[in-house]
Amino acid sequence: MNVLVIGNGGREHAIVQALRKSPKVDKIYAMKGNAGIGELAELVNLDYCDIKAVGDWVDAHTEIDYTVVAPDDPLALGLVDELESRGHRVFGPRKNAAIIEASKAFSKELMKKYGIPTAKYETFSDYESAKAYVDTCDIPVVLKADGLALGKGVLICKTREEAQDGIREMMLDKKFGSAGNKVVVEEFLEGPEVSALAFTDGKTMKPMITSCDHKRVFDGDEGLNTGGMGTFSPAPFYGEKTQKEVMEKIMLPTMYAMNAEGRTFKGVLYFGLMKTKDGMKVIEYNSRFGDPETQVLLPMLKTDLMDIFEAITDERLDEVEIEWEEGACVCVVLASGGYPTAYEKGKEITIGDLDEGVVLCHAGTKMKDGKLVTDGGRVLGVCAKGETIELARQKAYKNVEKISFDKMHYRKDIGIKYRDISRE
Ligand code: AMP
Ligand code: GLY
Repeated sequence: MNVLVIGNGGREHAIVQALRKSPKVDKIYAMKGNAGIGELAELVNLDYCDIKAVGDWVDAHTEIDYTVVAPDDPLALGLVDELESRGHRVFGPRKNAAIIEASKAFSKELMKKYGIPTAKYETFSDYESAKAYVDTCDIPVVLKADGLALGKGVLICKTREEAQDGIREMMLDKKFGSAGNKVVVEEFLEGPEVSALAFTDGKTMKPMITSCDHKRVFDGDEGLNTGGMGTFSPAPFYGEKTQKEVMEKIMLPTMYAMNAEGRTFKGVLYFGLMKTKDGMKVIEYNSRFGDPETQVLLPMLKTDLMDIFEAITDERLDEVEIEWEEGACVCVVLASGGYPTAYEKGKEITIGDLDEGVVLCHAGTKMKDGKLVTDGGRVLGVCAKGETIELARQKAYKNVEKISFDKMHYRKDIGIKYRDISRE
């Protein structure tokens, strides 16, 4: 079969690499893709947020049998609904289910209504009431813009002044655009974080192995938030007891809650969780594979990804046994100088001989005049497997040294955190 993958980051390169291994998959198309994806797929240069144009393109290309929608924006805009209504087979949640990520106000209300553990919160659409509330609440406090804001619409405010400034920036100055029309003001929680992703068809929930992201730009979790500077899998503290607690108290209740709301979720549901002193709590939901989590998850997947996708579409996920490799995987993201604020593009990338088994996931790359150049903030993910996180980490960093471009920067501490927390 021929598959179209929507997206152009490291996550999509990891998805394309996994699909390439499937004997069922013939040709892969990618919209818009990047240089790495271009080695495995035919690139289609179309704006995937123009959902009608994507629908027309898929209608016209009758050779496409299946489309995978990976990024949050087209999911929130209803690309899955658009393609389904035209009779195409698609992977990803419909618009009414993708709202679990697209609106923090929605997801918080869902959790409150169905008793799913999360931070206490209040939602405001009016500046004066929000301001009055942050004048009285406990500090630190967390402010979240309601809508999608590239993972950057969250402010952790350590003083009341910061909280007042934050409310003003979000609601009056519109720092995050219309995402800040509504703001969630949330209790500050503490504890190690884990990305727990699961496949679901609305009837069955099958968790993947776990992973940990690094959102801040600098070592030791300092500096601005980014899309993610690296990941490792599995989360060292996430053992069987935790997995059971998460399945019973969070994953299944979320699936049933979405069904009860008439918003059945089919696709990958991403649970951003924190292990607090009162148990596991939801920090955020995403309606899709994480980036750069996918880059450490899919290399460990033994089962044919296309089989899983189709089983979800056909609502027979219960029939598929999903198997994962033992061991660990680490992904170090190489970013452009200046990212996550202003950075230059078009820097030539040189890549030496990488060790066997090291996988590069291209994010912001493209070919220009026959040369590989940078084309985004996050440029490459260097992924390596090992028996342990430490071995995977050493292998990844050894290979990072073989790659360079002008002003390249990356975190040196991916794979270190949480190593001393006991597993339960
Ligand atoms: P989000 O975009 O919701 O994942 O938030 C980004 C990051 O902010 C999370 O990964 C957490 O590290 C942090 N964060 C979000 N909500 C809270 C909270 N209630 N308490 C503490 N940290 C939080
Ligand atoms: N790595 C976080 C995300 O994909 O939202």
